[in-house]
Amino acid sequence: MNPVPAVPADRLPALLAAMPKAELHIHIEGSLEPELIFRLAQRNGVALPYADVDALRRAYAFTNLQSFLDIYYAGASVLLHAQDFYEMAWAYLLRASEDNVVRAEIFFDPQTHTARGVSMETMLDGLHRACRDAKKIGVDAELILCFLRHLSEEEAFETLEQALPYRDKFIGVGLDSSELGHPPEKFARVFAKCRQLGLHLVAHAGEEGPPAYVWSALDILKVERIDHGVQSAKDLSLMRRLAQSRIPLTVCPLSNLKLCVFPKLEMHNLRVLLDAGLVATINSDDPAYFGGYMNDNFLQTFAATGLDSRYAYQLARNSFEGSFAEPAAKQRYIERLDAVFADA
Ligand code: HPA
Ligand code: ZN
Repeated sequence: MNPVPAVPADRLPALLAAMPKAELHIHIEGSLEPELIFRLAQRNGVALPYADVDALRRAYAFTNLQSFLDIYYAGASVLLHAQDFYEMAWAYLLRASEDNVVRAEIFFDPQTHTARGVSMETMLDGLHRACRDAKKIGVDAELILCFLRHLSEEEAFETLEQALPYRDKFIGVGLDSSELGHPPEKFARVFAKCRQLGLHLVAHAGEEGPPAYVWSALDILKVERIDHGVQSAKDLSLMRRLAQSRIPLTVCPLSNLKLCVFPKLEMHNLRVLLDAGLVATINSDDPAYFGGYMNDNFLQTFAATGLDSRYAYQLARNSFEGSFAEPAAKQRYIERLDAVFADA
């Protein structure tokens, strides 16, 4: 697997927390904590269908992806001004730096905001300013614009048009929201256009959807990473394809648990993916909703599945290799990772 010596189990939690890592699957709107939702709602005069923070938190009992998305879009309705987007992203970046995240590639959902009259300029002003300021706290942060797959491809094209004046503020595009019934090929033309523009390409596939959706994300959209992708384990030829092409999977264990993709964390298939040689990574997805940021995901997954320190090294290394950082930056991140393991 890798040349890292095994570290005693009692030192594993500290090592998981301390090791530098990249987060490649975080929806910034999914980092909005209930307290910030209510503070912004009050500041902006937005009415919420929940009496208070506790009532909102009590609604976080999800049964599948759609039951989560309904509440997630309601929470995002408090975001109106650039400063709101800045505060949301800054809170995430501070929290990520505490978890030794040194690189974050952050999704945002422009259509959730333009539909409420918030301009692309407003959201990118706040989000990009937070990413720039993150350098001061040791995080290299970049933005990835996601198209909502429950909307039409025409609407995705309109969103791309609105974003192109700010092409320097995001590095790629992704595809998120309701997966079932909205296969990747629905967005073939807009992804082809983004590819021509030199944008990085990723897509959610195989979270709840079948392996066929992962195949079409690879072969039709030509994505460079698959977000989630855990259903790929049902198709051995797909597993071979992912391993051979070294296409990373951005796995989100606590998200999968909370959205009932796996009934228990003990039954998560992360070990199967890693043992098959896939470039799998651990990520938080929507940490304010799923009960944990990066280190919570690492600690709880390792405790539940019995993965050891060699897997910890592999996951952190995969996160850097799978990132869209420049080769020299990847090399620096991996040297820092090696230094932490050399001292462990
Ligand atoms: N899947 C699809 N869409 C999303 C998710 C997710 O896990 N989180 C936020 N939007
Ligand atoms: Zn996601």
